[in-house]
Amino acid sequence: MDILDVLRNRRSQRHFNGRPLEQQQIDLLIEAFRWAPSSQNRQPWRLIFAVSPEARAGFDDALSDSNRKWATAAPVKMVMIGTPDEQPDRNGLNAWMLEVGIAIENMLIQGCAIGLTMHAMAGWDEQKLLKSFRIPPPFRVAALGVAGYPGKVEDLPEDVRAKDLAPRVRKAVGEIAFRDAFGTAL
Ligand SMILES: Cc1cc2nc3c(=O)[nH]c(=O)nc-3n(C[C@H](O)[C@H](O)[C@H](O)COP(=O)(O)O)c2cc1C
Repeated sequence: MDILDVLRNRRSQRHFNGRPLEQQQIDLLIEAFRWAPSSQNRQPWRLIFAVSPEARAGFDDALSDSNRKWATAAPVKMVMIGTPDEQPDRNGLNAWMLEVGIAIENMLIQGCAIGLTMHAMAGWDEQKLLKSFRIPPPFRVAALGVAGYPGKVEDLPEDVRAKDLAPRVRKAVGEIAFRDAFGTAL
């Protein structure tokens, strides 16, 4: 027994082959995002696709320097946003952010299951995104996402290639799962 193949094998790759995604594939990504669970089914999420040359330039301009090295080549560029208006904070925590995150993971899993390069990003300038994409308050940007068909890892710049080829590692079960009280081994 193992976890689902797509969970085990999903990777945040950084390479694209330049081929645009068919609308059918994009629709599947949106469906996966849309069917995520949320508290009281409030669905505090939205997706903005950067399609026009101006919007794509705005997306690229908002990326951190390290993400700009590879993410600009993605055929599909998405701004993933959410609002506390539709999901109030609980215990001082942004519940909307958690739920946008769940929807993002749904999309990442769906995209990887159909053979796409999928990658979420936290490295960007929110003020630039709010302005370029005319995002009204109180919406906030949770993440950026890119998708496309995989390219060749060899074609990436050396530092990006090293990140892409880095072994996938996770904390040991004993570090994250406890019995009865925090820190007690299961
Ligand atoms: C919310 C989120 C933000 C991330 N931000 C970035 C980013 O800005 N740049 C980047 O190269 N990778 C980013 N990643 C990818 C992570 O580095 C990656 O998920 C992690 O190293 C584990 O690798 P894996 O997804 O291949 O299992 C992000 C992932 C998530 C879920």
